[in-house]
Amino acid sequence: MSGGYVLPRSATPENPLRLAVMISGGGSGLASLLNYQLAERRCHHTVLVLADSADAGGLEHGRSNGIRTIGIPLPNKAVKSNQRLAHERLVHEELLSSDVELVVLSGYMRILTPWFVGLWKGRLVNIHPSLLPDFPGAHAHRDVLAAGTDVTGCTVHLVDEGVDSGPILAQSQVEVKADDVESTLQERVKKVEQTLYPKTIDLLCSGEISL
Ligand code: GRF
Repeated sequence: MSGGYVLPRSATPENPLRLAVMISGGGSGLASLLNYQLAERRCHHTVLVLADSADAGGLEHGRSNGIRTIGIPLPNKAVKSNQRLAHERLVHEELLSSDVELVVLSGYMRILTPWFVGLWKGRLVNIHPSLLPDFPGAHAHRDVLAAGTDVTGCTVHLVDEGVDSGPILAQSQVEVKADDVESTLQERVKKVEQTLYPKTIDLLCSGEISL
């Protein structure tokens, strides 16, 4: 497959794909994905919830659903690059020990190293709150408002070695209103994300997406 992407196997509701969801914050996206998976049998289910701290609020969504749920804070290392790699090694070990087949980033606020991306390329998916390639990075809503554009949205994409730059799988548009501030725009975009992400994960898991 081009670019080193290895997509997940084609799964079925009888033999669903094993997902890990990685979060940093409140996990509203995680909660909506779990609800979606519980509503009826899907071709994917969540077997592991990981956060990059022990006190991320969203960990509770995993625990309350009986899912293996772990907060992995950054280990103490003098050099920052060593710290990131050491952290990702711990994450990778947990993914392997839960036999994870697809890693879903949902509000995970760390940039992953090429080492980690290389291990999961094609089976590592992210949602970003803008219409990529416009407004990548951690402050998409702020940047959209500063640019004065009247349409924004969200993008589901495979993760590559860059920042919010991998192959785009799906997008939805959202209107920017004249009186929007970051928080109102974020809430409106999140609502659309919560439909787009599970639907796109369906397509990826059932083998309906090819590169
Ligand atoms: C979403 O807007 C996602 O695009 C962004 O983080 C938000 C989800 O955070 N990267 P959470 O699920 O509410 O923690």
